Amino acid sequence: MTPRFGVWAAVHGSRGALQDPDEPFDASWTRNKHLVLEAEALGYDSVLIAQHTANPYDDEWDQLETWSAAAALAALTSRIEIIAAIKPPLYHPVILAKMAQQIEHISQGRFAINLVNAWNRAEYEKAGIPFAEHDERYAYGREWVGIVEALLRGERVSFKGRYFDVSEFQLRPVDFFRARPLIYVGGESAPAQELVAAHGDVWFINGQPLENVEALIASVRAQPRASAPLRFGLSAFVIARQTARAAQEAYEHLLNLAMKDAEIRARQRQNTDPAVVMKHTHAYSKTPVIGTNGGTFAGLVGNYDEVAARIDAFHQAGIDVFMLQFQPFEAEMRRFAAEIFPRVKAAARVAAA
Ligand SMILES: Cc1cc2nc3c(=O)[nH]c(=O)nc-3n(C[C@H](O)[C@H](O)[C@H](O)COP(=O)(O)O)c2cc1C
Repeated sequence: MTPRFGVWAAVHGSRGALQDPDEPFDASWTRNKHLVLEAEALGYDSVLIAQHTANPYDDEWDQLETWSAAAALAALTSRIEIIAAIKPPLYHPVILAKMAQQIEHISQGRFAINLVNAWNRAEYEKAGIPFAEHDERYAYGREWVGIVEALLRGERVSFKGRYFDVSEFQLRPVDFFRARPLIYVGGESAPAQELVAAHGDVWFINGQPLENVEALIASVRAQPRASAPLRFGLSAFVIARQTARAAQEAYEHLLNLAMKDAEIRARQRQNTDPAVVMKHTHAYSKTPVIGTNGGTFAGLVGNYDEVAARIDAFHQAGIDVFMLQFQPFEAEMRRFAAEIFPRVKAAARVAAA
């Protein structure tokens, strides 16, 4: 099987340097609509729409709303998988399951949720929503996703736990396309691993080197699991060029631009729960990281053959889906489709022969 490729929607603007003349700030619906339609036409398999209610860098800046955008994209596209992120305390599980069920129908079986348990304290606290400590957020998320999953399967659900009391609730219509929409989980900590093994279909890993990814996959595979084998996704920021030298220059260019963001990043750090594993993962990188969720730490910086070979190595280690960031997004997304897709397909053909 060849790996699948997805793109992160531009929900809060650029993913690398925030103030880039080659990618003026744009988190609008119009930009995202064109970006996703083009991604689909180029052959990308998935789009991930991250969830933030206010822009996490600066609340004066625009922010795309995930679930209404997911519904609209479901209606406009025909093939690409639409993955919408969700932080459990923001929606009651019955309401969220109903929304997910509706988007599954609009998309005709192409919808998925990405369960994330949050890092941005300000997003909750400014709204007056309690921001529980790290493991408590996971305990809540675990009850929450159990209810969502059963409702999406069409079950009549009665559940009484620490956080929820649901009795005899059932959602209709049933899923005509498959058992239920897919459940992705983003998060690396021990409770994230337990949660995905118990309730997830695909585990999203932050971008990082192959040996870390291999260890994380082995760790999750050792967790008890009742359902079909778990699949794995990797987030990565790509800088692919004709030559390794040109890629290194592009990386340095973005790094220089990113220096302008020092103050914004410092504010963001203050809002970040220090218990979140993602923040520590970045810190192990010997070179500065461009992008979010691991970004360039995944090592997809190099000439076209190098980038394709690294993708192949991650794929051999168990990564099915690569969730990609670029900058400037649209131009680099096109380049990746033109240069890397055929190389990866050729490698898969050789492996299959
Ligand atoms: C692929 C991926 C996507 C994510 N998307 C979001 C998101 O949309 N919104 C958000 O607030 N956090 C997002 N996160 C960050 C998670 O909230 C954070 O990693 C996690 O909850 C912290 O838990 P951990 O300590 O288990 O890593 C994402 C993480 C990953 C790996």
